[in-house]
Amino acid sequence: MKTRLLVASLLLVGACVMRLGVNVEAGTGADVEPDLQVRLGTGSPRRLSDTGLYAPDGTIDPRNRPFSPQYPLWSDGAAKSRWIRLPEGSSIDVSDVDRWDFPAGTRFWKEFRFGDRKVETRFLRRETDGSWTFASYAWNEAQTDAVLAPEEGMFDVAEIAPGKRHSIPAVTDCRACHDSDGGPVPRTNILGFSALQLSTDRDPGAPHAEPLMPEMITLRTLVEEGRLTPAQSDLLATPPRIDAPDARTRSVLGYLSTNCGSCHNGDSSLANLGLFLKANVSGSHSASGPSHPAPSHRAPRTLAPSHPLPSHLLGKTEKWQIPDVAEGESRFVTPGAPDLSAILVRMKSRRPSSQMPPLGTVLHDRDAIDLVTTWVEEAGAALVAPGQSRW
Ligand code: HEC
Ligand code: HEC
Repeated sequence: MKTRLLVASLLLVGACVMRLGVNVEAGTGADVEPDLQVRLGTGSPRRLSDTGLYAPDGTIDPRNRPFSPQYPLWSDGAAKSRWIRLPEGSSIDVSDVDRWDFPAGTRFWKEFRFGDRKVETRFLRRETDGSWTFASYAWNEAQTDAVLAPEEGMFDVAEIAPGKRHSIPAVTDCRACHDSDGGPVPRTNILGFSALQLSTDRDPGAPHAEPLMPEMITLRTLVEEGRLTPAQSDLLATPPRIDAPDARTRSVLGYLSTNCGSCHNGDSSLANLGLFLKANVSGSHSASGPSHPAPSHRAPRTLAPSHPLPSHLLGKTEKWQIPDVAEGESRFVTPGAPDLSAILVRMKSRRPSSQMPPLGTVLHDRDAIDLVTTWVEEAGAALVAPGQSRW
């Protein structure tokens, strides 16, 4: 289903550009083309200011609490701010430590800025029927408010590099990353507000991580404020962290978990590719396809990737062929050979047909490419130096 969604959304973006020539930079929120207005999504407030993000004086409503995931998503270098509002007196059901269940009425916002300019603010709201509403708001030129983007997204809302422009994803694209589609019922996942992402044991090597400010919510805040059910005070004694043999591997696995693992995991329709990049606190699923671990009140505190990733990936032949590499020689990771490691080849690509991730980015992530390249080179060195290999 993910593949179908991707293809459908690429077509939609193309169609949208041809039909509308959307360019919000040229106008303010108040004068979005009339043609666009009739195409706006229906379930969400029309303006960002109506979603509850701001207090009447224009500052962030203090009930909306900032947070910062330790492994952020690469979005072409956009600076981001994120907030959550939990309904008053409510708590998050964390009985499945890898799938926090948020109360109806929970809202999340994520603001994207390039330079000093706010470009879009993404919004998620849990409805009373359990579903999540997805929306994004395109900022006006005057930076006074943002208007609901059409469901098919908006092409070219800001220039982010010479000849490269940022687009607001279509709702199908949001869902390609946020929804698990491998089971009988699709379910929406919150990707940056989880036990691993909010752990107090933050990875100092995580690419592009923002500094943690004192007012930001972490596992500590949630435990101390009694926001987790059942109460999980042991999350503080032994905070979740990726269990890896060295610091670099930890950062690589964390990066891949956020940036790739939302699609490449055992609960996704892509599970048959055998590429499992999602790190789970329970360490209990993903490797062998869809499964739903029993709720665990006492989650293990070291976070193994859903599968012992390095040994699993090393040398594994994949379906997609690296260009100009002999048939059968394409591998997810070839120790010591970055050019023969498909995950890197696809991270470096920004051709729509081969880039990874396939959505939400037009510039490659230089820092992450450097990190993963060194990791692949070192993996090769470790293999040829007997006794040093931890894998
Ligand atoms: C390429 C995959 C991808 C796409 C496309 C995407 N997201 Fe996300 N989103 C993520 C990841 C990963 C995080 C958590 C990491 C971060 O915030 O940096 C996240 C975080 C969020 C958050 C904060 C709550 C949370 O889950 O952590 C909101 C709100 C959000 N996204 C809304 C949207 C909306 C609305 C769209 C479509 C307009 C969208 N996203 C498209 C991957 C994606
Ligand atoms: C929005 C979902 C999504 C995200 C996020 C994503 N991928 Fe993919 N990936 C796909 C789809 C769909 C395919 C299958 C079609 C194809 O090969 O293009 C795929 C295929 C691949 C393949 C080829 C696998 C094979 O055996 O054929 C590799 C390697 C890969 N992805 C690496 C990555 C890496 C590395 C990241 C993160 C940097 C990533 N992907 C993020 C959707 C995603």
